[in-house]
Amino acid sequence: MMKMPVGLFLLLALSNVVFLLGKEDDWECNNKPTLHSRPHSVSIAEFGAIGDGKTLNTLAFQNAIFYLKSFADKGGAQLYVPAGKWLTGSFNLTSHLTLFLEKDAVILGSPDPAHWEVASPLPSYGRGIDLPGPRHRSLISGYMLNDVIITGHNGTVDGQGLTWWDKYNSHSLDYSRPHLVEFIFCNYTAISNITFLNAPAYNIHPVYCSYVLVLNVSVFAPPDSPYTLGVVPDSSDGVCIEDSRIVVGHDAISVKSGWDEYGIAYGRPSSNIHIRSVSLKSFSGASLAFGSEMSGGISDVRAEQLHISDSYSGIGFRTAKGRGGYIKNIIADDAEMENVYIAIDATGQSESHPDDKYDKDALPFLNGITFQNVVGTNISIAGSFSGIQESPFTSVCLLNVSLSIPSSSSAYWVCSNVSGLSQSVVPEPCPDLEGITTSNSSSGSCFPLLYSNGRSWTL
Ligand SMILES: *[C@@H]1O[C@H](CO)[C@@H](O)[C@H](O)[C@H]1NC(C)=O
Ligand SMILES: *[C@@H]1O[C@H](CO)[C@@H](O)[C@H](O)[C@H]1NC(C)=O
Ligand SMILES: *[C@@H]1O[C@H](CO)[C@@H](O)[C@H](O)[C@H]1NC(C)=O
Ligand SMILES: *[C@@H]1O[C@H](CO)[C@@H](O)[C@H](O)[C@H]1NC(C)=O
Ligand SMILES: *[C@@H]1O[C@H](CO)[C@@H](O)[C@H](O)[C@H]1NC(C)=O
Ligand SMILES: *[C@@H]1O[C@H](CO)[C@@H](O)[C@H](O)[C@H]1NC(C)=O
Ligand SMILES: *[C@@H]1O[C@H](CO)[C@@H](O)[C@H](O)[C@H]1NC(C)=O
Ligand SMILES: *[C@@H]1O[C@H](CO)[C@@H](O)[C@H](O)[C@H]1NC(C)=O
Ligand SMILES: *[C@@H]1O[C@H](CO)[C@@H](O)[C@H](O)[C@H]1NC(C)=O
Repeated sequence: MMKMPVGLFLLLALSNVVFLLGKEDDWECNNKPTLHSRPHSVSIAEFGAIGDGKTLNTLAFQNAIFYLKSFADKGGAQLYVPAGKWLTGSFNLTSHLTLFLEKDAVILGSPDPAHWEVASPLPSYGRGIDLPGPRHRSLISGYMLNDVIITGHNGTVDGQGLTWWDKYNSHSLDYSRPHLVEFIFCNYTAISNITFLNAPAYNIHPVYCSYVLVLNVSVFAPPDSPYTLGVVPDSSDGVCIEDSRIVVGHDAISVKSGWDEYGIAYGRPSSNIHIRSVSLKSFSGASLAFGSEMSGGISDVRAEQLHISDSYSGIGFRTAKGRGGYIKNIIADDAEMENVYIAIDATGQSESHPDDKYDKDALPFLNGITFQNVVGTNISIAGSFSGIQESPFTSVCLLNVSLSIPSSSSAYWVCSNVSGLSQSVVPEPCPDLEGITTSNSSSGSCFPLLYSNGRSWTL
């Protein structure tokens, strides 16, 4: 897995990038790169920026980054953001750059939408997420970049999302809402040791990217903020999300890969995603979500050491007829849930479509999803699996799952058009998830047995 072509490995070594790759065939959280400091650094203050929370500094950020482009072949450079409140509109990053936010440095998103550029929709979506047509560009964007790091001493990026949420709720947006950080077609990017607040929509959105590291970040948005999402790997591979705390209105971590006919045509999956040691809360969505946009396919995701609390659903899978694509080879291992309405929620009826041109016969597949070593307290519904009649969910496995449910709850498990296996599950699951006994014990059809290229996970 994650085999890096030798040529690329050499190229990276020669171009003096700060990513020191470990074993070249094993990225993700087990073999994270070491982040080094850059040989050159400039402060945003040197470009005339004023950290008073009032002066608009968009031009200072754009000029600083334009200047730092010239260091790309000299080991790259750091843009240092000192303590202060640095108001800005959207700006672009460049390759071989570290954006470093000092303790008490806050990059404040301008509350005026006119300060956020407008860009064309992503090809795998065909439109913006909120409205058809173009969308606002993210506060911090990277387009076709290599080797970019956003880090610091727990400085903050605050999107001041309130104006956007109000406009969303009152249907007065001009274009779809922006995100805080979006990387499009980027390789080797890392975000670590910083805090994200009040995103207009998503917080961290890598799209069409390879090798993304999200480490030790904190993400907060108010519970009632509409459709705010935390980290959203989208048509991206080789992703590690670790040691992070995410509290949002909707989904805390959401793996996606494009929407209906646009996602099918674009055809870029999300795969090889490793999530470890995260604490998640999602008021109205799922703490760990797959879809509903998954038309390019989602596979090979391992999520472990999950602490999920105060959420509508713990782990959610969403798809619908018309999506096409697949969700397969997913394992959630070692999850603790507390105060969660539905612990596991998988639905094939997530009917929202980009337009009316989608192909109603494009059936999605969901196969090979394993939940193991899950404990939950104060859960209302243990699990709901609602597959698609023409394409039932298959090989859904529950192993060592124990959920405590107040006796007032009436439905423990709700199952239709789903098949799979279960062992040591409390409360007893629906018969669709056939019990494995010790006499015929073999969870042989449960993922993971072997990883796609024959490497086995350590279980
Ligand atoms: C940011 O990057 C995009 C994509 O390359 C480009 O279209 C846009 O003009 C850039 N914006 C600025 C201010 O440079
Ligand atoms: C990222 O890697 C892919 C696959 O190796 C390559 O096709 C693409 O050009 C790279 N992107 C950049 C910005 O270097
Ligand atoms: C996480 O970030 C905090 C604040 O910057 C820092 O004190 C702590 O050492 C970091 N933890 C890890 C595991 O990097
Ligand atoms: C970083 O700062 C935020 C507040 O801005 C705080 O909630 C969080 O705990 C800090 N993170 C770490 C790892 O210290
Ligand atoms: C995070 O911050 C801690 C404490 O300053 C530091 O030791 C660690 O190297 C940083 N990690 C990353 C990935 O930036
Ligand atoms: C149980 O969880 C629900 C959310 O599903 C929450 O509203 C309620 O307060 C929790 N009860 C206790 C005793 O914590
Ligand atoms: C079952 O899961 C719980 C919670 O993760 C764990 O403590 C326990 O060791 C597991 N039991 C077995 C037999 O693996
Ligand atoms: C599959 O779902 C449909 C509704 O979508 C339902 O009518 C049908 O009975 C289900 N089939 C099974 C075998 O549960
Ligand atoms: C295992 O044995 C039990 C009890 O005999 C039976 O109900 C179940 O269908 C068997 N499961 C498999 C996967 O063979």
